[in-house]
Amino acid sequence: MSNRRQIIAGNWKMHKDNGEARDYAAKFLELVGEITELDMVICAPFTALSVLKDELEESVVHLGAQNMFWTGEGAYTGEISPRMLTDMACTYVIIGHSERREILHETDEMIAKKVKAALNAGLKPILCVGENLNQREDGRALATVRGQVERDLPDLSPEELRRVVIAYEPIWAIGTGRTASSADAQEMCAGIRSTVAGIAGVVAEEIPILYGGSVKEGNIQELMAETDIDGALVGGASLDAEGFARLVRNALG
Ligand code: PGA
Repeated sequence: MSNRRQIIAGNWKMHKDNGEARDYAAKFLELVGEITELDMVICAPFTALSVLKDELEESVVHLGAQNMFWTGEGAYTGEISPRMLTDMACTYVIIGHSERREILHETDEMIAKKVKAALNAGLKPILCVGENLNQREDGRALATVRGQVERDLPDLSPEELRRVVIAYEPIWAIGTGRTASSADAQEMCAGIRSTVAGIAGVVAEEIPILYGGSVKEGNIQELMAETDIDGALVGGASLDAEGFARLVRNALG
């Protein structure tokens, strides 16, 4: 546990239509709408943002998207601009999730452009980094993640870096039920913080670093107790409003 602001972000991935999103928001607000000790974020599919904008307006729950394109507007069929997200009251956007890196072939170059564009638009990027199982077994986990951080956050001012959130998500732990041990997650998050310190010096101490990968009600407290883990990016366990509300309460300790 640190002095940094803590964040619990739900990543709905490709789940929930508008009716389900509306029901979820009402129930979730009823359960955790008074919590101000940490920042809660729901990263929803684009199609649910409009409904959630109305439902979460003036609440303590922040809205986020799961991806965006890096230019303001233009002939980019199927893409969504940063400004379209701020127009939907988004304050966060997930960038470089491993599912996009792997399935949609997003490169570090694309991800770096998206991080910069998000910052320019006033959004807080949640930059996802993480190693796959081979890289972990070969002892290359930290080197992999360091490389991603360096390539994805080039040429940012200290002021810009202060608004970046990093999520360490080992690919082998996502959706598998296999969480990294809190000691391993701590070691990786500390390594990420020291990489950021190499780029930005003391600003690294201010950046929230989240852990993601099979986070549940039952393991959140142990993860959050670690010095360099400032919260969680939660996939599967964020889909049920009551379960996610319990997870948030457990995160408070
Ligand atoms: P999970 O997903 O919690 O379902 O493992 C985390 C993520 O991919 O952000």
